[in-house]
Amino acid sequence: MAFLPYLLALALAITTASSSSFTITASLIGSSLNGQIINAGGGAFYLGLAAPSTYCPTQIKPHCPEGTSTVLVGMMGQSGIGAMSVMVPGGQQVYVHEYGALGFTQAHSAFIPPGSFLAGFNSKTIPASISEPSRQVISWKAPDASTEGILACPDIPDYMIGIATHQIYARTPKFNLTDCVVLEGLLPSLLPVGPPTVWQYT
Ligand SMILES: *[C@@H]1O[C@H](CO)[C@@H](O)[C@H](O)[C@H]1NC(C)=O
Repeated sequence: MAFLPYLLALALAITTASSSSFTITASLIGSSLNGQIINAGGGAFYLGLAAPSTYCPTQIKPHCPEGTSTVLVGMMGQSGIGAMSVMVPGGQQVYVHEYGALGFTQAHSAFIPPGSFLAGFNSKTIPASISEPSRQVISWKAPDASTEGILACPDIPDYMIGIATHQIYARTPKFNLTDCVVLEGLLPSLLPVGPPTVWQYT
């Protein structure tokens, strides 16, 4: 019976991990961007997308979950790292490109562009105002603490024009865009405990 406490601990660890999955919206009280859903697409994160881009391999169909939201895990813990909530073996890591664009790794690949940051995400408290209660948002800080913050930028790739409005960035030391909206952060909405709702994001 010695293994029983171990199994219980394991079950608890798994439950705890999966209980922290969440969707994210832009947080900026008083802005038209506040509350807008952030979706994954083309290896990056956007406002304005109706749904994330996802993929289910033909060998797995029809067993893929058919989730239509962008679900993440981590980002608010000590490690400062985050990932997409996916079923694909190996998972998909969230990272910050050296010029600030938030991205995530492709399935079956650990490739991260040189100069990118894997960690640096954190949980930040936005104090209460007259109209709003205080809230916890996800932010990002450079390893040397020289820059920080999350931004929504209207400079989007050509293939996103007409379907997305803003791309999500972190203020890295090399971030160089000037027409962005500085967000308070990414507001997480925790989801009920359960398995990932997509196979992989693309
Ligand atoms: C500015 O940032 C973009 C990415 O957003 C990058 O492609 C470009 O090389 C950067 N320019 C300079 C001068 O660093």
